[in-house]
Amino acid sequence: MKIAMAASEAAPFIKTGGLGDVMQALPEALGLLEGNEVCLFLPYYGQIKRDKRWNCEFITSFAIQLAWRQCHVGLFRLQSDSLSYQVYFVDNEQYFDRNPIYGHLDDGERYAYFSKAVLACLNYLDFRPDVIQCNDWQTALIPVVLHGEFRGSFPATKTIFTIHNIEYQGWANSNFNYDVLGLPPSFNDSLRYGDATNFMKAAIVTADAVSTVSETYARELQYPYYSHGMSEVLIQRAGTFFGITNGIDTAVFDPSASPNIPFHYDVNSMAEQKAKNKVKLQEELGLAQDPNVPLYVIVSRLAGHKGIDLLCYICHSLMTRPVQLAIVGTGEAQYEQALSSLAWQYQGRMVVKLAFDPGLADRMYAGADAYLMPSRSEPCGLSQLIAMHYGTIPVVHATGGLQDTVLPYDPTTGEGRGFTFQSYNGEDFLYAIDRSMSLYYDDRAAWNRLAQNDMQLDVSWTIPAQSYMEMFKKVTGLS
Ligand code: GLC
Repeated sequence: MKIAMAASEAAPFIKTGGLGDVMQALPEALGLLEGNEVCLFLPYYGQIKRDKRWNCEFITSFAIQLAWRQCHVGLFRLQSDSLSYQVYFVDNEQYFDRNPIYGHLDDGERYAYFSKAVLACLNYLDFRPDVIQCNDWQTALIPVVLHGEFRGSFPATKTIFTIHNIEYQGWANSNFNYDVLGLPPSFNDSLRYGDATNFMKAAIVTADAVSTVSETYARELQYPYYSHGMSEVLIQRAGTFFGITNGIDTAVFDPSASPNIPFHYDVNSMAEQKAKNKVKLQEELGLAQDPNVPLYVIVSRLAGHKGIDLLCYICHSLMTRPVQLAIVGTGEAQYEQALSSLAWQYQGRMVVKLAFDPGLADRMYAGADAYLMPSRSEPCGLSQLIAMHYGTIPVVHATGGLQDTVLPYDPTTGEGRGFTFQSYNGEDFLYAIDRSMSLYYDDRAAWNRLAQNDMQLDVSWTIPAQSYMEMFKKVTGLS
């Protein structure tokens, strides 16, 4: 199958969140499947352009119209022998030489431009995909522009719109089509939401299929509590709305080989080696060095929706227990301050590093006993998958992808993956931590078996890539 993908970020080129990880691993997994031809389009941000690691070949340049604007499009191709897919970069310095990459007043115009340019580039390359897979609001206009301007060039191409984050939807004022997009007025209905323009809503009603990154989240999004105003339109797509749980790149996240981890391990050496990693980590973080105290960690953006509010609420109670707590991340000032002052109060037992540090994150996953993820809502979540792959037992709020991937531990059968709580409140969260702590102290053999079970779970992209192919086949009618 011929598959084109488009996104506003992808590791290792540029990444601000989980979307970047997915857009690294999913194209690779699809590209490895027999019979697939995959390409990925990204903006040629200044940060990528100036990065000496990437050698790019100039292919062509031309102009496209954005209503009354004539805009430059430069098309570059990554030179690489190691990827299973082609990477193309769309160059326009006026739009993409920005730091940070998001959060500018003209973001709507920038990504409307990108969406149009991707289709124009596919057309130039004479690559007629069977499907174009678009991700989040930044590429949400591709299905709309395909219908409005490029149908003649791509008569059989189907579009899939994948939701990773429903909170950012691409809002613009009501004359956006007239002023920027330049599609016929007959498209105003699809683009309009209330008295404004909403890119995501336009994709949901226009794409041939819609997907999100777990089955539970696909169900949750049909309720107003989770959907940020999109439940009505999503319910109308119910027959062609898919939930496919993400995987992780197990070549990148590998406790038996990662250069960041002092003592490598596999499922058999897990118990001894993790204990050594823990002591090293305790030393690095300034915690009391003790292999027999359970170390709970969090690697996260410090934001309310990640459940950091619950964590702050239970922290004093948690610190009355015989545990250690380490947190790494940056985020909202109120949480940075609250957690720092708590860590100061509980020195030696609790520590907070206000940093974005992938190396340290890797050592945290490797050295910790348990991983806390009390997110209020979570489309999929990748951290709990990494934790399980590292034999670090997750304690999570049973929502979205967390509910699908962390089945509750059953002490009588030994089945399950971790500890969960159902309602979003501090007492329930603390109770889940207490249950995990009891297992750690009362039955270390069972704890280790649970960690080993988690390590053996297949969290790679192999299974999800098959599910994406099933979805593509349903939508295209191809086999
Ligand atoms: C977003 C979601 C996260 C998901 C990721 C990749 O960051 O918040 O749950 O895992 O996208 O799909």
